[in-house]
Amino acid sequence: MNSSRIASDYFIDLNKKFFDFFGNHPLINIEAPGRINIIGEHLDYNDGLVMPAAIDKFIYFSVGKRTDSRVVLKSIDLDAVSETENINSFDLQSNHAWSNHLLGVIKEFSLNGIHFSSGINVCFGGNIPNGAGLSSSAAVEAGIGTALNILFDCGFDKLKLAQIAQLTEHKYVGVKCGIMDMFASIFSQKDHLIQLDCRDFSHKYVSGKFVNHEFILVNSGVKHTLADSQYNIRRKQCESGLATLKSHFPQIISFRDVKSAHLEVLKELKDPKILERCQYVTEEIQRVFDATQALENNEMKQLGELLNCSHKGLSEKYEVSCEELDFLQIEALKIDGVLGARMMGGGFGGCTLNLVEKGSEDSFREKISDLYVKRFGIKPEIYVVNTGHGVTVVE
Ligand code: GLA
Repeated sequence: MNSSRIASDYFIDLNKKFFDFFGNHPLINIEAPGRINIIGEHLDYNDGLVMPAAIDKFIYFSVGKRTDSRVVLKSIDLDAVSETENINSFDLQSNHAWSNHLLGVIKEFSLNGIHFSSGINVCFGGNIPNGAGLSSSAAVEAGIGTALNILFDCGFDKLKLAQIAQLTEHKYVGVKCGIMDMFASIFSQKDHLIQLDCRDFSHKYVSGKFVNHEFILVNSGVKHTLADSQYNIRRKQCESGLATLKSHFPQIISFRDVKSAHLEVLKELKDPKILERCQYVTEEIQRVFDATQALENNEMKQLGELLNCSHKGLSEKYEVSCEELDFLQIEALKIDGVLGARMMGGGFGGCTLNLVEKGSEDSFREKISDLYVKRFGIKPEIYVVNTGHGVTVVE
């Protein structure tokens, strides 16, 4: 866990709201960040490599213990309250209700043998834009998991907390996501990117600070409703493709063993999409290796080109982009100082990630914003990326 930091203004306000609502003070304050991903999209559930980093946008939590066994959750942003009778025993159906992201984590703690000695009061809110593909849900799960782990002395390590967060999405939210988002929210280090191998969770940190370049996010402001259902379908299509590959080539254990020549056998399948999905996955795995090398050698032009190829693959072969993201990507490349751009995250909306030369940031902001407003009537929010620390206890 990162060391404690000075309380931010947000916590002064959050603690006051906690006191006004619960009539006592919280025992712990936690901030859990959202994330970006430089490259390696839709690879975390395909045994690939990803390159995420936490950003300086957070979900903030104040958490206290109760004298009874109730769970009382107060969402500041939604202005909503959820109450559950008994922290150690409650039913939870899979749906997208906001409280499931927290109750699911509690449930998984219980299923891992934790008996809570009391109920809890939770007040939370934040500044990670919802639906922007910056993983506010994973931050919620990482934050509440960390709070419970400390308050009830559960002894789970960081990987276990990330796995609990991921299972929460699978079982109680209904999204069969990979581990990247929660891993980034928990493991990140300031000014660094994580190179995470999702096959065995081995990882290393590389500098996320560049002398002459910045990453800039452009939020399309849209989140198409098919995002979650299509996400789960992509996962199934990849599993099905991999099963066929394994049946033909016993040496293949995961996508990491697949070469483009192997993919020929997928041409016999009735569903032509399976071949395209698997092509995307194998090509993107190679792009992550190439991007790692480009970063090591400070070849930013090369990195930019890899981002563009990643977008093309996501749009044409994996089909998780949308009109708004394609527009933002194409138009960004026409602006001076932009080396590369791609959609980021699950897709069907959210942000594009743009690699921009320092000094060109302002003209980039202005131009891309004008173009997007003209075309879609939406003023996009634009953020310069500051890579930040993972989940932190705040004094
Ligand atoms: C979402 C999921 C992640 C990952 C990305 C795509 O953010 O939650 O697990 O699969 O999409 O890379």
